[in-house]
Amino acid sequence: MDRSPAVQEAGAWAGHPAIGRVLVDQERLQERIRELGGEISQDYAGRNPLLVGVLKGAFLFVSDLMRRIQVPCEVDFMAVASYGSATDSSGVVRILKDLDAAIAERDVLIVEDIVDSGLTLQYLLRNLGARNPRSLEVCALLTKPERRKVDLPTRYVGFEIPNEFAIGYGLDHAERFRNLPYVAALAD
Ligand code: IMP
Ligand code: MG
Repeated sequence: MDRSPAVQEAGAWAGHPAIGRVLVDQERLQERIRELGGEISQDYAGRNPLLVGVLKGAFLFVSDLMRRIQVPCEVDFMAVASYGSATDSSGVVRILKDLDAAIAERDVLIVEDIVDSGLTLQYLLRNLGARNPRSLEVCALLTKPERRKVDLPTRYVGFEIPNEFAIGYGLDHAERFRNLPYVAALAD
């Protein structure tokens, strides 16, 4: 057996009819996350940032990213649901799970899976901004610039992707494919 575990893993999904072309492969994902962790470590030197992972899509990203951050940091999670159609969010957001603790005077870094229209993030920035953090920044793994409806300050971005529905590495289609170890387009 000369096949590496990574090859076997990807191979198990090969030929699945719902999985289209690869948008970001495993190696590029991990390389970029290492870079982002380095940048964040420099920018937050001497501070103790609170990473706020947005469930469910960002759960893999936040866990890999946190392991690449070399300053003391903490993690908390929020779960939100955005009203709208299957593919378009309306910007009306409902909090399903709020943070465990107050964030006043904390350096908060929102960790998101993907910024599409930007409406969900706009809501989160307003909502968390109103709780008086010392600083509030965003780290998004993916962004689809073509779909943006609102201009937002996203300090850290992993990859720009084209206007296609992305699945894998935490991102789902009807709750499936979150465990795909890379980011692919949903086949149409
Ligand atoms: P927005 O409010 O339009 O920016 O949408 C944000 C949320 O919609 C993201 O946090 C994702 O949970 C979901 N979403 C947007 N685009 C995609 C995609 O291509 N694949 C999977 N989920 C997506
Ligand atoms: Mg999300």
